[in-house]
Amino acid sequence: MTEVEIRENLRTDTFGKTLFAYDSIDSTTAQAKKLVADGAAEGTLVIAEEQTAGRGRLGRQWVSAKGMNLTYSLILRPALPPQSVPMVSLYAAVAVAQALTAYAPVKPACKWPNDIMLKGKKVCGILSETLLNGDRVDAVILGIGININQTDFPDELQSTATSLARETGKRFDRITILGSVLLQLEKQYRRLHTSSFDSIIEDWKELSPMLGKPVQVHQNEKIIKGTAIDIASDGALLIQTGGEVLKLYAGDVTLSHP
Ligand code: BTN
Repeated sequence: MTEVEIRENLRTDTFGKTLFAYDSIDSTTAQAKKLVADGAAEGTLVIAEEQTAGRGRLGRQWVSAKGMNLTYSLILRPALPPQSVPMVSLYAAVAVAQALTAYAPVKPACKWPNDIMLKGKKVCGILSETLLNGDRVDAVILGIGININQTDFPDELQSTATSLARETGKRFDRITILGSVLLQLEKQYRRLHTSSFDSIIEDWKELSPMLGKPVQVHQNEKIIKGTAIDIASDGALLIQTGGEVLKLYAGDVTLSHP
């Protein structure tokens, strides 16, 4: 994947027009942070064939075989107050899931807060990091890992991770998929700025089979059991447990099997 090849497949106006493509780097998000400090423009894309210290949610690693998948970070400079930043992850999950629909054998599902699943296994993880300047949002770095052609996963991920190739038996052109995802992200970006949060949440809910179902939420050592009832207007997950409704901002959700 060279910069030239990526550019040739871009159909966006701004997203990806400034582009840094690496063969190997610690983390595209770490690199994007440095670029933000240097004043990088909105839409700047940092992509790598391999990350030696890819970061996942909740301090985990993101493991992705070199040259098989898509691992990239996009610099956004949304005009939003800090409390609205969780919406950036939801908007991104909707845009990525919709773009992947064209390549997937079944409709991709969103799993709160921002995983994308195929047949119950994770095909994409999104990690957004917010950089503040005082109480103002300076940038949001959207880190996206999409499993495309990897079919062998480390033992600990075998039962929970998947890829487009694993689900279809086919190989995919990663640059074409990158182009589709960036186009959807760009098209839908204005929804963050036109008070369309409700419509983002509606789309996200439409893509999520979890609402209304019994779930377990793992938060470090703590496990919360209840029913996932809704997504709040700020992106939080609402869980009904006994007589009370809890508003959760972090955690790992799994469906409970009675
Ligand atoms: C998750 O844990 O689900 C989020 C994973 C996010 C991984 C992507 S890959 C590109 C970017 N760079 C990183 O170090 N992490 C994100």
